[in-house]
Amino acid sequence: MKKYLITFLLAFCLAFIPSAAHQEVDNIVEEIMSRMSLDDKIGQLHQIDGRTDLTKVCDMIRKGQVSSIMNIVDASVIDSLQRIAVEESPSGIPILFARDIVHGFKTILPIPLGQAASFDDALICSAARNTALEATEIGIKWAFAPMMDIARDPRWGRIAEGFGEDPYLASRLAVSVVKGYQGDSLSDELSMAACAKHFAGYGAAEGGRDYNTTYVPVRSLYDTYFPPFKACVEAGVASFMSSFNDNDGVPATGNRWLLTEVLRDEWGFTGMVVSDWGSVGGLIPHGVAKDKKEAAKICLEAGCDMDMMSYSYLNNLKELIAEGDVSMYVVDEAVRRVLRLKVRLGLLEKPYTRKTSESVIYSENVLETACRLTEESSVLLKNDGILPLGEDIKTVLVTGPMADAAYDQMGTWALDGDKAHTLTPVEAIRKNLPSGVKLIYVNSLDYPRDKSTDDFKALKKAARKADVLIAFVGEEQMMSGEAHSLSDLHLQGQQSEMLEALASTGKPLVTVFMAGRPLVIASEMELSDAVLYMWHPGTMGGQAAYNLLWGKANPSGKLPVTFPRNEGQIPIYYNHKHTSHIAKGTEGNLDNVPREMPQSVMGHTSSYLDVAPTPLLPFGFGLSYTTFELSNLRVETPEVRASDSVVVYVDVKNTGDRQGCEVVQAYTGRKSASTTRPMKELKAYERVSLEAGECRTVRLEIPVESLAFCRKDLSWGTEPGNYVLTVGTSSEGGLVSYFKLNY
Ligand code: NOJ
Repeated sequence: MKKYLITFLLAFCLAFIPSAAHQEVDNIVEEIMSRMSLDDKIGQLHQIDGRTDLTKVCDMIRKGQVSSIMNIVDASVIDSLQRIAVEESPSGIPILFARDIVHGFKTILPIPLGQAASFDDALICSAARNTALEATEIGIKWAFAPMMDIARDPRWGRIAEGFGEDPYLASRLAVSVVKGYQGDSLSDELSMAACAKHFAGYGAAEGGRDYNTTYVPVRSLYDTYFPPFKACVEAGVASFMSSFNDNDGVPATGNRWLLTEVLRDEWGFTGMVVSDWGSVGGLIPHGVAKDKKEAAKICLEAGCDMDMMSYSYLNNLKELIAEGDVSMYVVDEAVRRVLRLKVRLGLLEKPYTRKTSESVIYSENVLETACRLTEESSVLLKNDGILPLGEDIKTVLVTGPMADAAYDQMGTWALDGDKAHTLTPVEAIRKNLPSGVKLIYVNSLDYPRDKSTDDFKALKKAARKADVLIAFVGEEQMMSGEAHSLSDLHLQGQQSEMLEALASTGKPLVTVFMAGRPLVIASEMELSDAVLYMWHPGTMGGQAAYNLLWGKANPSGKLPVTFPRNEGQIPIYYNHKHTSHIAKGTEGNLDNVPREMPQSVMGHTSSYLDVAPTPLLPFGFGLSYTTFELSNLRVETPEVRASDSVVVYVDVKNTGDRQGCEVVQAYTGRKSASTTRPMKELKAYERVSLEAGECRTVRLEIPVESLAFCRKDLSWGTEPGNYVLTVGTSSEGGLVSYFKLNY
């Protein structure tokens, strides 16, 4: 123990001298490195899964072969393994315990795609902070999140894990999660390290099939896929995870341009990069390395510091160094980055799980925040006036396979969620139902893929006795997430038929969707009088559903992703290019296609013959129980220079009869630039809460530097010229003005 005294003292001091932090961290790291053997160093680049034979794990720790362990969620096991690392391993360096904490730890929050619908940076940040409190309580100090892959293909199961299609929204929200996880200081024992993943382009998997090849050209990487990652670097994210995909022929984990030239040299990232699961070894099936030894060399030299689970570094680096194929400098740099993170997290002076007198897990405040976020994440897509349910509703029929699906409503990556702690809609409605209101619950389909219609007759009979029918439909947890992509995005099983049966009774039908992605829901929307989209809402889904349906909360969510009319429209997203043949007013109806006429009679626009080119529902769209009106758009800065901000004011009035929240969205667009540009791009938004009748002026600020893009010569920057500014309540329509950027 004595030999570590200096290190501990240095580390202890660090906690009290934040300003000297960088130098202090480096001093501590150098001190540790000076007494590490090559084997110790290689061990620090190795991460294992703890869900295995623990005797073997202990043995590896004793040999100094384990730097990080994921997937152990028992504080006493964590502490006992840590004790072995600290007291028995050759270097005494503590282990970094990690977990996929993607949307909540024990208290499961809505899936990230759902959270994005809230457009509420502050609330997402506090919910993420609560997640860190829950996770650090049992010793997890590193979360593999936020996932910030821009996704424009709802077939891709992992669309659930990110913040949708827009780089600006995803950047802001990813930063909120980083701040929530990491707090003001990583060394705070309530903080855990975040991990920006998956770097990069993973969301562009061809055909929406997970792990598939991507072809994202450099220009689109910079314009669309990189921004959230860069924003996280600026926000101080502690780590990055490389992605599984090969982009333009190069697997990300072995891509030196990506992991070193862009991430470190250009953006100045000083943290640590971990591979994705086995993705160092993944270079072999990708076909760019003949064995793990070659893969280890390629990936370490590319800038991937820690090997998650492929054992390529552990088993090959020593030989590679001995043979002179990998330099000691490269190994040392990677080890430094790993150790820096451990030091910054305060692991050296406090390696063990913090002691708490009172658990925050499922505490009132944590659940309350989760519930609020779930309410704000829910998007009201249609309302003929039936919602919120009023006092005239005396009998309610609740049905559908998601009405009481505690497991499924938690969604993908709810590893530590507990269905016993999850409140389902039917439970919440039962618990809260106003006196004098009767609930009829009919379990008409056991689960979303259930193909049996046996109960539909009884369902219709019961429905006729009700004043309103509430159907909870959607997808099982198993339908989205990693390696869970779909080609058909319609409701599965007999769910649509169930909705038809309900609608045929003539009773008002409210359809609530719980799903991991935008589904194809055009006909279900037609059948329904009101539609609420709750994504996979997590632990508090039931309570939030009750609050929203009965008007205890007012929906305010906005779509973070475009809803297609059918799968054939995919990829479809709002910030597309103009094209030379822009589609206008095209219906897309095969019945209107004439027979045996010259091709040109149909015109020449970028559209389809059989479906409109427009989406079913646009990005940014979402209704409320009240209405809002925007007026008086003023651009305070009609002419700006490169270092300025465009400052915009708009009046927002709540024109309805109850309090509500609107998300005011500002988009910019250009008619002419050195490259083709999106028609419009979100550049600012603000959530505003207004009482009935209240009017407020909202100020939006767009720093000119945020108008930068990858110019024709591939340099990053702005270009002078005229800009169109649209301020509205979705990506469609809005008030229009202009400003000019002068150089
Ligand atoms: C593979 C997934 O792609 C990644 O997101 C996750 O963090 C790792 N497995 C660890 O479980």
